[in-house]
Amino acid sequence: MQINLQVFENGTAASYAVAELIKEKIKETPDSSFLNIAISGGTTPRMLFELLGNEYGSSIEWKKVRLFWVDERCVEPTDSESNFGMTYDAFLQKTLVQGENIFRMRGEEIPEYEAERYSNLLLKELPASGGYPVFDLILLGMGNDGHTASIFPNDMSLLDSELSVAATVNPYTLQKRLTLTGNTINNAKQIVFMITGESKSKILKEIVENKPNAKNYPAAHIANPKGKVDFMVDKAAAARL
Ligand code: 6PG
Repeated sequence: MQINLQVFENGTAASYAVAELIKEKIKETPDSSFLNIAISGGTTPRMLFELLGNEYGSSIEWKKVRLFWVDERCVEPTDSESNFGMTYDAFLQKTLVQGENIFRMRGEEIPEYEAERYSNLLLKELPASGGYPVFDLILLGMGNDGHTASIFPNDMSLLDSELSVAATVNPYTLQKRLTLTGNTINNAKQIVFMITGESKSKILKEIVENKPNAKNYPAAHIANPKGKVDFMVDKAAAARL
């Protein structure tokens, strides 16, 4: 994996950097087309969404943005566990992105059926390459165990599944999940990890320094054949580098 590592003072500074990256990509997006972004859940992405909602309402042409999800917990969208619900509370409720440009994973549906529906939706709404949809930008987080999206270390087969979207389970809580697969994620034009907190520092070091143990972490298998994967991290996560 080719990594473009950028270390910031804290999560807020990293969020500003990602917000500015999104702003620039939207500026580069022709008026007649969209910037198709897949977003993750978690506390780190939440910082970004709150920033976008509070400070980037007027400086970004949101009508060019279409939002998709990287993964979702199989709960109602109003559930406190819902990634959509988190994004709604932090950002979507400001209605900067119009409803028709928001493509929610329906966590309330039967997981296997929703995985198929969402996979078909992606192939309808996005360009495809090698049989997998192509996002313009995918924003990922990384868990303390090196998971990303809802691809956990106990199910690495999701990295090279023939599916675009899969139903899976969080092995620690047994919570059912929906997730983009590795082949879909790695098909994106640009992939950005947002990683903050000292709890990520050990695994981040192993991935950045390509240690033997890194192969055990799904996040280490995210690669962008078209270039580098951006790691936007705070000093706490980078503490061991
Ligand atoms: C999820 C997320 C998950 C998250 C990481 C990082 O649904 O849990 O998609 O992959 O991005 O666990 O979460 P934090 O930023 O909260 O550490």
